[in-house]
Amino acid sequence: MLRQLFFVTSIAVVALANSQRKLSLDFPTPLLGNTSPGSVWPQPESHVSTAETFPVAVESFMFTYASKSYKCDLVYEAFKRYGAIIINSAGDQKLRFRPLTTPMLTGLEVNLMAPCEDYPSLDMDESYALDINSMAVATLTAKSVWGILRGMESFSQLLWESDSGQIVANKTNIIDKPRYAHRGILLDTSRHYQPVNVILENIDGMAYNKINVFHWHIVDDQSFPYVSTVYPDLSAKGAYNPITHIYTIEDVAEVIEYARLRGIRVVPEFDTPGHTTSMGKGQPGLLTECYTGSNPNGNYGPINPTVNTTYTFIQNLFTEVKSSFKDAYIHLGGDEVSFSCWQSNPAINNWMKSHNMTGDYKKLEQVYIQQVLDISAAIGYSYIVWQEVVDNGVKVKADTVVEVWINNHPDNELAKVTALGYRALLAAPWYLDYISTGEDWKRYYSYEPSNFNGTAEQKKLLIGGEACLWGEYVDGSNVTPRLWPRASAVAERLWSPETVNDVDAATPRLHQHRCRMVQRGIPAEPLHPGYCKHEWRN
Ligand SMILES: *[C@@H]1O[C@H](CO)[C@@H](O)[C@H](O)[C@H]1NC(C)=O
Ligand SMILES: *[C@@H]1O[C@H](CO)[C@@H](O)[C@H](O)[C@H]1NC(C)=O
Ligand SMILES: *[C@@H]1O[C@H](CO)[C@@H](O)[C@H](O)[C@H]1NC(C)=O
Ligand SMILES: *[C@@H]1O[C@H](CO)[C@@H](O)[C@H](O)[C@H]1NC(C)=O
Repeated sequence: MLRQLFFVTSIAVVALANSQRKLSLDFPTPLLGNTSPGSVWPQPESHVSTAETFPVAVESFMFTYASKSYKCDLVYEAFKRYGAIIINSAGDQKLRFRPLTTPMLTGLEVNLMAPCEDYPSLDMDESYALDINSMAVATLTAKSVWGILRGMESFSQLLWESDSGQIVANKTNIIDKPRYAHRGILLDTSRHYQPVNVILENIDGMAYNKINVFHWHIVDDQSFPYVSTVYPDLSAKGAYNPITHIYTIEDVAEVIEYARLRGIRVVPEFDTPGHTTSMGKGQPGLLTECYTGSNPNGNYGPINPTVNTTYTFIQNLFTEVKSSFKDAYIHLGGDEVSFSCWQSNPAINNWMKSHNMTGDYKKLEQVYIQQVLDISAAIGYSYIVWQEVVDNGVKVKADTVVEVWINNHPDNELAKVTALGYRALLAAPWYLDYISTGEDWKRYYSYEPSNFNGTAEQKKLLIGGEACLWGEYVDGSNVTPRLWPRASAVAERLWSPETVNDVDAATPRLHQHRCRMVQRGIPAEPLHPGYCKHEWRN
């Protein structure tokens, strides 16, 4: 293990007489440079290395299959990607004419011990073993193709550039597997349109951090960029621009394939019955008309749960979504349903009266959600919901995943959700849309997800978490630097053992990882004063 080279000073907040606040750094300021070369982020479960290094034959580096290995396109595509990354790791200082020194690391031999799976899943096996010893070829072994992908990422991170400009790798043995099965990032393409290339760039970022779920919050109140074949008016009338600010079937397929090749699931979210203003524009009669007194006031509220056309619409839309997205899960939303519009609408109130639920709008919400859950299950979907669905007493299927997002004692909510026997995802401490100056990644890093009251069985029901970057203040111009490396903190918390939790020890590794992302073309923002060996576009 690398010794920690610098201690990070705290940032002192100095209150000035005029009550304005100013940040001042304690001195001496530790600068972050090339402080942790060859370290892996997120930290593997077991990483044993020595100071012995092998020069790497960058220009002629070969990926090969072990003789008994299974082979497939997922591995072959990874050979190509990591081959390019390894060549690029030499920056501008490629040493083409350097005489070969021995022993030289000339390749990585991959041993995939089971047939390739086609698409990643919640149950996928991401474990792997990686060995770089005195032999000329390093070895990577895994029981599934997903472990091979994770191991190749780790291998690529082990290579570093010595002072003489030679790419080297330490003698290393890694045995690794993730702590949590679901390690997600939410991107929101409704508040702002995020161009497809920017989404792909962030999927690369996810692969570099062993994130395995892209939670695509694809539509919301503000815009409906998803192009539906059965309901083309949804994007024609609900997108910011029906030609330029949309995701066609081909765009969606491209994102899913790009993610699949990197072992990343794409879970779409179609949030209802709230957060649906843009959906209502292309589907008259879907939303509740809000009233002032006895007249409609021109505003619309959540989806109208009292008419059958609503459920026909949901059934048709979700059936199409199931065929465009490959994942077994859909996120059904269910958060922040405002009752005031339902309360104002006479037809809704009459319906509630005739169904014995006068004044009980939570019950009305239940009626809606229950039917949407049943429709989704009948289509063959497993589903994730935001916590309000359970908080409001909706009876959900036993295999439902409940995502905890409200940042008011999320530990209590996890205790409650898992006591009910549901699986849970934690997002509350990791809302990356909240920004402030300083090193907020340390807060994300320090939140221990399993620290809630519950039995061992309950702890097992926590299947992971998500970093959420809501889209109000990010578009293609800033979404990537705002996400990275802040989301990397969450990535390590969810992948590495619970004991890997020391921010001071993590700082030089995270800095190195951020520099590595920069060198690979991800405009990840800086952590702290310092420098990278290869600066952005330098
Ligand atoms: C790699 O080797 C160098 C010396 O060449 C040493 O300084 C460094 O600590 C080693 N890194 C790891 C992760 O073992
Ligand atoms: C709506 O569906 C329910 C259940 O299938 C049925 O009983 C009812 O008559 C339908 N209402 C209308 C207005 O079609
Ligand atoms: C409503 O409640 C009344 C009285 O408890 C009962 O007789 C009736 O069957 C209920 N109707 C419905 C639709 O549940
Ligand atoms: C767990 O419960 C105990 C006793 O009810 C309480 O004192 C403690 O603060 C709780 N811990 C957490 C992490 O909620």
